[in-house]
Amino acid sequence: MEQPAVPPRPAAAPRPAAPPRPGAPDLSVTVGGLRLKNPVLVASGCFGYGREYGAFFDVGRLGGIMVKGVSLEPWPGNPPPRLAEAPAGLLNSIGLQNPGMDRFLAEELPRLRELPAAVIVNIIGRTVEEYRAVAARLEEAPGVDALEINISCPNIKEGGLSFGRSPSTAAEVVAAVRAETGLPLIVKLTPNTADVEGLARAVAAAGANALSAVNTLVGMAIDADRRRPVLSTVFGGLSGPAIKPVALACTWRAARSSGLPVIGMGGITTGRDAAEFILAGAAAVAVGTAVFVDPLAPLRVLEELEAFLVEKGVAAVADLVGAAWPERQALTAAGPAGPGAPGSSPDRAPPASAGEAPACGG
Ligand SMILES: Cc1cc2nc3c(=O)[nH]c(=O)nc-3n(C[C@H](O)[C@H](O)[C@H](O)COP(=O)(O)O)c2cc1C
Repeated sequence: MEQPAVPPRPAAAPRPAAPPRPGAPDLSVTVGGLRLKNPVLVASGCFGYGREYGAFFDVGRLGGIMVKGVSLEPWPGNPPPRLAEAPAGLLNSIGLQNPGMDRFLAEELPRLRELPAAVIVNIIGRTVEEYRAVAARLEEAPGVDALEINISCPNIKEGGLSFGRSPSTAAEVVAAVRAETGLPLIVKLTPNTADVEGLARAVAAAGANALSAVNTLVGMAIDADRRRPVLSTVFGGLSGPAIKPVALACTWRAARSSGLPVIGMGGITTGRDAAEFILAGAAAVAVGTAVFVDPLAPLRVLEELEAFLVEKGVAAVADLVGAAWPERQALTAAGPAGPGAPGSSPDRAPPASAGEAPACGG
């Protein structure tokens, strides 16, 4: 394992929030050194750089913003059509279009860092060196609270195969970025792998502080009248409620196998969805595709999650993390050491118990 060349930064205090109402649940969480005033974030690529959504709600009320993927140079993205509706979901092949690092730093970051919400910059590259260079630029930029590494990018040195396709190439990217920055590093897992555990453990060993799960699933749509694929790129990434069961399983498996905190995402549209991810082991959650249906969805999810905690008598959201795990169930049955008891919420999870192999369907 490569050792970090840059010392880890002490966790920054969460950006100022309104004082909690008396009796309200404690919504604060810590995710791999990143302290958040509440666990509801917005997912990368679904919220741009937050600019447009300020017209709909006070974006600063969120725990944080995971901004659209940023590369060293501008990327033009894929030609249209690059969106297709799917049953209970969305297929996209945007192609990680973005204005590049110079414009992000000059035009977006100064405004983002004024918000009382954590700024998590999603980083992309086509080579390991590009990821490293992007991380180095952001390490120097004031107002960045954490980096999220999108390892689903095509690796041009390996014929366009995704870096996230194998634990070793994913770990190579993470180690290179780790060597450039002391910021908390969140690695975004792809669900397009049979070995979530192997991927999670490899990036943890390479220096990740947290994981996010999951990115989109490979899918496609066919236009039966025109007898051709709908998307210009043939394949796209499926997101939205259609992928929620897959994302929940990946969250559970990633958290239990790696011991790292996980930011869960994939089809979250309600506060109850968010609670399900937290029960599965997520320390925080992100809302993505739901904002295309309801621009207020992230704030509504936050309010509904808080109402859920009040309804269930949960004093702190951190107490719910992983509370659906079998060993936590046993503790609950045994009495006071269960969820809600002091010290019962693991920022680092115990290893997965035996007998948890994926069951056969059908
Ligand atoms: C239009 C669109 C653009 C996206 N762009 C990015 C991106 O730039 N970087 C990234 O890591 N994930 C990107 N994602 C994936 C989302 O962040 C999220 O992981 C995924 O959509 C699952 O969550 P959801 O079902 O709530 O949307 C994108 C998703 C969509 C729908």
